[in-house]
Amino acid sequence: MDRFSDAFIEGDKIMQTLLANGFNIHKPFSIGEMNIWNMDMGYGCGASRIVVWDNDSDYVVKIPICYGDERYCIHEVELYEKAVECGLESHFAWCDCLGEYDGRNVYIMERLDCNENTFEDLTYTWRYESYCEERNLDPDEESSRQKYSHYFWDFYCDDDLVLEWFLSQFSEKISSQVRAFIDRWQINDIHAGNMGYRGSQPVLCDYAGFGWSC
Ligand SMILES: Nc1ncnc2c1ncn2[C@@H]1O[C@H](COP(=O)(O)OP(=O)(O)OP(=O)(O)O)[C@@H](O)[C@H]1O
Ligand SMILES: [Mg+2]
Repeated sequence: MDRFSDAFIEGDKIMQTLLANGFNIHKPFSIGEMNIWNMDMGYGCGASRIVVWDNDSDYVVKIPICYGDERYCIHEVELYEKAVECGLESHFAWCDCLGEYDGRNVYIMERLDCNENTFEDLTYTWRYESYCEERNLDPDEESSRQKYSHYFWDFYCDDDLVLEWFLSQFSEKISSQVRAFIDRWQINDIHAGNMGYRGSQPVLCDYAGFGWSC
């Protein structure tokens, strides 16, 4: 039996619950609606997708909210398949197309432990020591921290540092393979909100990229 075969049953259950509670897949969605429905579900939201999960489930449902062109979602599924071909799939949360609901495609993904703040903090502290060393600064001095915070936020904005931190978590060999894959398929927009933990391993949960004409 496929490792993820129960995912489709659980994902469908989530969609049926949402639809039964008045969720309109064609209407621009406000995250506040989830609270109003008072359902025992977790949810996240990005610029282009709502993500919903049952607290007992190992999967999340991803619903595109970027009306019009939704190629970025199917692109993510295709990228996962390409990662499998390269033996790199463990670095990407498994995903697939769950099915069509009211005429719109919805996606299913392995659930990770996601907390944007954790990855922001880790990325922040990760470079501090080398920053001080390169500039001959005392890491215990408040003035060093202040200098770093200016430098960090300037640098951090382009997400490069988050990707560097992510890659630094693997051996040199794996890291260069993952980097080559990311470059090859031009996966952009890897920020602290687009990764999570599977056990102790950081894994990408949004590798659809950004800028797909939406
Ligand atoms: N597999 C997952 N497991 C748990 N939580 C997830 C998962 N995928 C996404 N999330 C949560 O939902 C949020 C939105 O999901 P996602 O990043 O896929 O949406 P997006 O609209 O494409 O984001 P962006 O704004 O980065 O383009 C994430 O930041 C994360 O907090
Ligand atoms: Mg995202």
